[in-house]
Amino acid sequence: LESISVGLLGLGTVGSGVVKIIEDHQDKLIHLIGCPVKVKKILVQNTNKKRDVHVEPSQLTTNVHEVIEDPDIDVIIEVMGGIEQTREYLLEALNRKKHVVTANKDLMAVYGTELLKKATDNGCDLFYEASVAGGIPILRTLVDGLASDRITKMMGIVNGTTNFILTKMSKYGTPYEEVLKEAQRLGYAEADPTSDVEGLDAARKMAILARLGFSMEVDLEDVEVKGITDITQEDIDYSKRLGYTMKLIGIAHRSGDKIEVSVQPALLPDHHPLASVQDEYNAVYVYGEAVGETMFYGPGAGSLPTATAVVSDLVGVLKNMRLGVNGRSAVAPQYQKQLKAPEE
Ligand code: NAP
Ligand code: HSE
Repeated sequence: LESISVGLLGLGTVGSGVVKIIEDHQDKLIHLIGCPVKVKKILVQNTNKKRDVHVEPSQLTTNVHEVIEDPDIDVIIEVMGGIEQTREYLLEALNRKKHVVTANKDLMAVYGTELLKKATDNGCDLFYEASVAGGIPILRTLVDGLASDRITKMMGIVNGTTNFILTKMSKYGTPYEEVLKEAQRLGYAEADPTSDVEGLDAARKMAILARLGFSMEVDLEDVEVKGITDITQEDIDYSKRLGYTMKLIGIAHRSGDKIEVSVQPALLPDHHPLASVQDEYNAVYVYGEAVGETMFYGPGAGSLPTATAVVSDLVGVLKNMRLGVNGRSAVAPQYQKQLKAPEE
């Protein structure tokens, strides 16, 4: 192949990072794939907006068909967000035998099973590493690195915005609203930050982790959720005096064949490994029966860390294309879902 053409849906915080990494790391991509990678077309809402990254005006379009119907484009990278319309676009792309990379946990938590099946049926890859814990390669770790183990517990800080807010409130007493605005300015928060602060973003990520870690269908409705909106500065200061740190924690637990998944604010003793995870950083603890305790740490949000996961998925797709195989999307769940009853 002379080159590979990619179509982008979205050129915001993550999309700009994707364009930068594809440009700045082109040598490495050529080394891995054997040919240059070009971003051919980019779907945006407003073609006149000032961008953080240089693109030619001819690359931008507001017409999705110009991206997903372009016969030169082999891979669609979805970094626009949203659920229903985005699902339509990706189903259409997969029907047209385009491989897909997405950072969209909202979409994957709700329609992941349907989209993965569509990908498998069409012989396409659908990779979504960036949807959970930003720059931490946690999904491929569950699917590949720990493939032989039986995972019984996962626990972690999987939302960068709320961790950023709780860190700044705890360290400097910065008011909640002010820190939230800063998290939005830095590109950590969702377009509607309600999903961050009310725990829904973390719940979506925990559903995806539980699905992959436990090899089981897990729906968003199965996750018990409580966010940080009721936490006051007094709660944080008081717990600090007692030697505890307030964190928004996701927990997925399996005992026997039953699972439970939740997201809630929790007080951790200051010496707990998760208590030292600060700002927009995330950490995921995974316990496997054979491996024992493992822990993964890194930036959980932001342009370049998230884009690293997206472009690494792109490399995975392109390597598979070269070999003529499909990858991780093809694995079906092994177990039937069984939720633990509250009294158990
Ligand atoms: P963003 O900065 O708001 O960018 C969204 C981009 O998509 C913009 O370029 C926007 O166009 C375009 N867009 C949105 N809706 C569109 C529509 N209906 N039609 C055409 N274009 C549309 O969002 P982001 O922070 O990059 O996040 C993108 C995705 O990555 C989301 O699914 C998010 O959950 C996920 N994610 C984000 C992070 C992070 O740290 N930000 C981390 C992990 C995953 P305009 O530029 O013209 O407005
Ligand atoms: N809004 C998300 C967060 C982005 O703060 O973690 C990364 O998924």
